[in-house]
Order: sequence, then C-alpha cells, then structure tokens
Amino acid sequence: MNQVQLNPPLNGINGTLSVPGDKSISHRAVIFSALAEGTSHISNFLIGEDCLRTVQAFREFGVEIEQIGTNVTIHGKGIASLKAPTQPINFGNSGTTARLMSGILAALPMFSTAYGDPSLSKRPMDRVVVPLSKMGAEIYGREQSKLLPLAFQGKKLIGKEIKMNVKSAQVKSALLLAGMLAEGETTVIEQGITRNHTEMLMAQYGIHLTKKDNELMIKGDQQPKASDLRVPGDISSAAFFLVAASVVFDSEITIEGVGLNPTRDGILTALRKMGAELEVEETERVGHEPVGRISVKSSYLHGITVEGDLIPNLIDEIPILALAATQAKGTTVIKDAKELRVKETDRIKAVATNLNNIGARVEPTEDGMVIYGDTTLQGGTIHSYGDHRIGMMGAIASLISKSPVTIEDKDCINISYPNFFDHLHEVCK
Ligand code: S3P
Repeated sequence: MNQVQLNPPLNGINGTLSVPGDKSISHRAVIFSALAEGTSHISNFLIGEDCLRTVQAFREFGVEIEQIGTNVTIHGKGIASLKAPTQPINFGNSGTTARLMSGILAALPMFSTAYGDPSLSKRPMDRVVVPLSKMGAEIYGREQSKLLPLAFQGKKLIGKEIKMNVKSAQVKSALLLAGMLAEGETTVIEQGITRNHTEMLMAQYGIHLTKKDNELMIKGDQQPKASDLRVPGDISSAAFFLVAASVVFDSEITIEGVGLNPTRDGILTALRKMGAELEVEETERVGHEPVGRISVKSSYLHGITVEGDLIPNLIDEIPILALAATQAKGTTVIKDAKELRVKETDRIKAVATNLNNIGARVEPTEDGMVIYGDTTLQGGTIHSYGDHRIGMMGAIASLISKSPVTIEDKDCINISYPNFFDHLHEVCK
C-alpha cells in the first residue's frame, strides 16, 4: 500500500543520524566519472531513483557502471568512446538528470532522444534549450522545445558568452558541461549565487574553470580525469530532522557527515534567525566540499522573512521550513520563490493546501507564502503529489499533530531519502 499512517510520538525525538548522500553531488559524480578517462570509485552514493536515472543514462552510452549498495564504480573510457544510445533515455522524475544531461547530449556528436514521467514532462526545459541553442545546439521537442520529450541532434558546439535569466544551478551546470565539450571558450554569467557543486567537482576531475564575480569561464575540449569521491550527507535531507528536533518538545538530534557547502546552508541561516538552537562544526573537507556535524535541540521559534539571495540557497528546504513556521510565534513571509511553482510539483500550492488541510494557516502568494504561526496541527491527510519533499514534510508534521497523519503516495520519498522511515522510527524510539 502506497500510504502510511503516522502517530505523534509519546516523548521527544532523539538520536544521531547519518543522512544519505547528497543528491546534487551524486548526480554530478556519475556525470564526471562517466565522461572521465579511468576508473572512479564513488562511495555514499545516493541510491535514490533520480540519481539512478543518471547512472542508467550513461549505461545507455555504453559506460560500464557497477553498483553495490552505496558504492558505485565507473569505468570511464573518455568522451570520445561514448556510443549513441539505441533507445530513448528515460529521465524519470529527475530535473537534475534532464537539465544536466541536455548540456551533454547537445554537445556530443550523436543523435539521442529523452523523455520523463508526467511530472517532469510538465517542467520547463526551455531554460536549457534556449541558451544551448545560442551555442549552436539543435534540440527539438514538444511545444516549441519547451517540454520533454526532446530530441538532440548533437554536434560540436561553439563557446559563447551566455547571460542566464534564471537563478538555477541546473541551468548553470548544463552550460558549463556543454562549454567543457564545446570549441572555444564559454562564459556563463549568473544572476545570483546558486549551488556550486559542479564547479567544485570540475576542480576535482581536473577541469579548468575560472570565476570572476558572477562570471564563470570555461575552455572547451577538456577531458575529465577519473577521481575517487565520497559523497557528503545531503543537507536537504538533514533539514527534515533539524526542523523535527526544533519543533518537537524535549528533543535533541545530531546529524553527522553532512555537507556544509555555503551555497547550500541557507536552511541553517533561516532556522538560526527563527531562534533554533543549532551547533555546527566542520570536521573535514571531502574533495573540495566542507563536511561536518549539526546538532539541534528543541527551542521556541519566531517568524521571519525569507527572500532574495537566500532563496536559491534553501530552495529545496522551503516545504519543511514552512512547517517550522507553523509552530513559530508570529508570521513568516517567504517571497522571491516563484521557482517553487516549477519543482516536482507546484510546491507553493502543495505546501499551502496540505498544511491548511491539517490545521495550519498558510496563504499562498504568487512567489511564496505567508504562514501565520503558533497553530495547533490537528492531523489528517497529506497528499505528496508524487513529490518526495512534500511527503517528508507531512511525515514530520505527524510528530506535532494531535491526531495521526496519513501520507498518500509515500513511495516517492525514495527519490532522495530511501531510508527516511527507518530514521524516523529510530529517532522516535
Ligand atoms: C539542483 C538545483 C536546484 C534544486 C534541485 C537540484 C541541482 O534546482 O532545486 O533539487 O542539483 O543543480 P534549480 O537549478 O532548478 O534551482
């Protein structure tokens, strides 16, 4: 049965967790290893459905990839050895696979086609198709190439200066990957700071990239070199338990081995501003990524405004932040977050509808939401709409609801956090 009913715990929640590997880094580790010359070993890889789509995509190109649990070994033979896929590539639910792979498919001299599930088929692809076309890409698709399925008549692209018109790490990464394979130099001009895992991994896989202010310059015809990598824990997954421990009375949770990349830690900034009791310690560098421990205790939260440059830094954490805001004193305003409308589902609508259904007061706005705090959640049903982060928000809501919460379509949580319910039971013991 693809639903679960969760009861509020009798006591606080406690424990130490290591969350699964970072989704963004897992995708990119496969991409660079598969394009590389030589064998790369990746450990703590996220065995979630999205990242496995990226693995499968490269198998279609003839790359030999072995996966045993969270260990993945990739036998790269270099860019020139990739073979044209004989079947359409299935990107599933994965926006990151779709956008990043588009940069590669457009730039390899071969024909390929790709499609996605019903959710991904509604998400905008023109944000990569249009700038790639400026480099000479030939991409054809549904609704003037705005939507999947897409067909790529891949060819050598020409490096260009491209000014991005959306704050998106996926678009930036697609352009950097295309630039790495193109002829000449590509300059990507960002509108604001977005997660920089592609840049960090390019350094690790021997790709030269320079950055000046908001401009990234990459020379073409570069071949990545194999590298071993341990993927840090995903701060976006940790966020669910950070909020849980903050809002459930008498709780304390520590998350170990979690990525602390400053382009991803906006959830820590926001929770601190709300009055959360967080302790963060960087314990090591894994490759170029800072990794450490986050401890959190229950505390009284208050409402804040979340906007501007902070938004891309916590874009995936907004559903769980909204849940925290229902427990905070005062009002929380989230704005400049229109991107939420084009995630796995319309997350503004999904968060507001679901939280209101269980007793919260959330007003959706065009580019965010207003959450009136200090509400008592009554319990009821949360529809995930196939969106993993909405499903997990609902599960954490069950910890502070008067009556049980039922999560419909719970299996989508496997996309980013396959052992989420095990961890939830562990901290509730
Ligand atoms: C991601 C970037 C973000 C994020 C997504 C993963 C990435 O999307 O929401 O979950 O790995 O680059 P956008 O680039 O669309 O903001």
